[in-house]
Amino acid sequence: MGARIAGIGKALPARILTNADLEKMVETTDEWIMDRTGIKERRIAGEAETTATLGAEAARGALETARLDASDIDLVICGTVTPALQFPSTASLIQDMIGARRAGAFDVNAACVGFLSGYSAAAAMINAGMCRRVLVIGSETLSRIVNWKDRATCVLFGDGAGAVVLEASERGGPASVVLRSDGSLERILYARGPATPMSAIDAEGFCIVMDGREVFRVAVRAMEDAARQAIGDAGLRLEDIDYVIPHQANARIIASVIKGLGLPPEKVIVNVSKYGNTSSASIPLALCEAWEEGRLQPGDNLVLVAFGGGLAWGATVVEWTGLGREAIDTTPTAVGAPTPAPRA
Ligand code: ACO
Repeated sequence: MGARIAGIGKALPARILTNADLEKMVETTDEWIMDRTGIKERRIAGEAETTATLGAEAARGALETARLDASDIDLVICGTVTPALQFPSTASLIQDMIGARRAGAFDVNAACVGFLSGYSAAAAMINAGMCRRVLVIGSETLSRIVNWKDRATCVLFGDGAGAVVLEASERGGPASVVLRSDGSLERILYARGPATPMSAIDAEGFCIVMDGREVFRVAVRAMEDAARQAIGDAGLRLEDIDYVIPHQANARIIASVIKGLGLPPEKVIVNVSKYGNTSSASIPLALCEAWEEGRLQPGDNLVLVAFGGGLAWGATVVEWTGLGREAIDTTPTAVGAPTPAPRA
C-alpha cells in the first residue's frame, strides 16, 4: 500500500515585505540579501492571520484539488514551529476550521523538517491501514518569532502555508524515507519557547537565534547525503529523478546541494526569492507552485529534501500521480485489506 498526493493547496498572506522595505528597517541592502540568499521578498501575516488560519486555507485548497470533502479526512497533521497556541495543537484548530469532523489531529515540531516528518508519519499510518486519507500541512508565521532588529536573521524568514491530502493508493510512494537528527547541534539554530525557564531568557527572548555560517555548512552536506540515500533506498538512480523539491532556506544552499548531486539546475524547484524561508511550509508551497505551473507530470519521481533546527534533516522519494481523479491508475484497496500480489 502506498500513499499518493491526491490534492495540494497553499496560503500566503497578502502583505509583501521587500528587500527595499528591509533597507529602511536594518542596515542591509537588496544587493547583499540577493547575493547571499537569493531572497527578494517575503510574506508577512496580518493581524487577523494565524498559523491556523493560513493552514486551514491551504488545507481547503488541498481538499478542493483532491475533490474530497473535509468529512473524508481521517487525520490532520500540521508541521509548525510557530503554533497558533501553545496548545491545543494548530492541527486541532485547523480540523475545526475546515469541518473535518471525523478526523484526529496533532502537530509535528521538527523545525523545517516538519512537513517531511508529518508526511512520513501519515504515509506510514496509511500503509499500516490505520487511516485512508490524511491532511498534511506545513504552516508558519515566523515573522512573529523573528528579531526585526537582527539583520542576520530578519531578512531570511517569511510566513505561509502549504498542504497535501495523502490518500491510500497502489502508486505514489513514498518509495523511501530518510529522517535524521543531531540534537548536539541545537546551539547553532534555535528559538526559546514559553516553557523555557525564566533564568535562561536573555535579551534574545523567544526569537530565532542562528549561526548562519555553521548552519549553511552542515545543511549542504546533510541534504545531499539524505537525498542520495533516499534515492538509493528507493532503488532509483540520480538520472531517474525528475525534480528535487528542497526546503527553501537559501538559493545558495539549494544550488550547492544540486551541484553536489550532479543534477542540472532545471531539475530543482526554487521559489525562495518570493517567500524566503517559510520553514515547514516551504516544501508544500514549492510543490504546489510547481504543480500550478504545469511542471509536474504523472509518473514523475520527486525527491523532497529538508533540513532545519535540531539539527534535523531528511528526504523522501515520491511518485507524482496527478491530483483528484485525474492521472494514472491508483485504485486504492480497502483499508486493512492485503495488498494484491503483483501479476505474473
Ligand atoms: N545585510 C548586510 N550585511 C549583513 C547582513 C545583512 N542582512 N547579515 C549579516 N551581514 C554581515 C555580517 O555582519 C558580516 O559582517 P562582518 O564581515 O563585518 O562581520 C558579513 O555580512 C558576513 O556575514 P556572514 O554571516 O558570514 O554571511 P554569510 O555569507 O554566511 O551569509 C547567511 C549569511 C545568509 C545567513 C548564510 O550564512 C546562510 O544562509 N546560512 C544558512 C541560514 C539558514 O538557512 N537557516 C535556515 C534556518 S532553517 C530553520 O530551521 C528555521
